[in-house]
Amino acid sequence: MRSLRGRDLLTLQDYTREEIMFILETAKMLKQRYYSGERVIPILKGKTLAMIFQKPSTRTRVSFEVAMHQLGGFTLYLNWNELQLGRGETIADTARVLSRYVDGIMARVYKHSDLEELAKYAEIPVINGLSDLYHPCQALGDMLTIWEKKGKLENLKIAWVGDGNNVCNSLIIASTKLGLNIAIATPKGYEPPKHVIEWAKQNAKESGSEIILTNNPVKAVENADIVYTDVWVSMGQEKEREIRLKVFKPYQVNKELLARAKEDVIFMHCLPARRGEEVTDEVIDGPWSVVWDQAENRLHVQKAILSLLL
Ligand code: CP
Ligand code: NVA
Repeated sequence: MRSLRGRDLLTLQDYTREEIMFILETAKMLKQRYYSGERVIPILKGKTLAMIFQKPSTRTRVSFEVAMHQLGGFTLYLNWNELQLGRGETIADTARVLSRYVDGIMARVYKHSDLEELAKYAEIPVINGLSDLYHPCQALGDMLTIWEKKGKLENLKIAWVGDGNNVCNSLIIASTKLGLNIAIATPKGYEPPKHVIEWAKQNAKESGSEIILTNNPVKAVENADIVYTDVWVSMGQEKEREIRLKVFKPYQVNKELLARAKEDVIFMHCLPARRGEEVTDEVIDGPWSVVWDQAENRLHVQKAILSLLL
């Protein structure tokens, strides 16, 4: 396996199964060391990560910031609109300049193509902190969580219930790479993009993953080891809120729906949640919910990403 040093992380499609497993194994090791008392492992001493945000964030911002501190490095929180980017400096020129100051860029953007542009002109790794299309750091944290909770990543069925969005896309890609089966239940017209499904079906031949698309949440959840949902209205879709609330209503993850899954099912959510919309309090606060461990794992997996790429 070639070294991951200097690589971008825009989508997990660019990483092999072995490379993804290497990131997860590194995360597991760093987490163990953290819990055995080694809170700071200064392998990134003197390094700086610029974090550029076009949208709000709690988990991604804080976990990347804490991850860099625990690795001995520094972070800069930068609001896209407060940079000259907001006044029309090009992404390419910004990428060239930042490459002279910092060792890596993490960015959260609306358009995935903005990230690709950043990565094209930056001489340092660019990490996707969420775009309209993908959320790879989330999917890596999710895989670490599944591995911890189920003790394996093979022969498991994930049921995605809700919007075929950025988090869903990255979960499909990670599942396909690692051989998990995934059933996606969305309303008609809210399926994941065709190019993601086509890519997954093509690549599933190698990993043996099964990918099921349905409009029926019960069908997706039946026999599932993991039930996963996300908000019905993602950042940037606020104008569609009223219509989406109506369309997605039958896709709420509640106790009745969860009862159709396996007895030892776990419930996952990338957070932030809209309690009472995509998930009920009973489910997110219930014994099957692993959402807080899932959120914590963002920290450990990002420490692995940063230490390997930077
Ligand atoms: N899951 C996630 O990325 O959360 P934030 O929007 O709070 O960063
Ligand atoms: N799909 C959500 C995920 C937030 C972490 C959004 O894009 O707003």
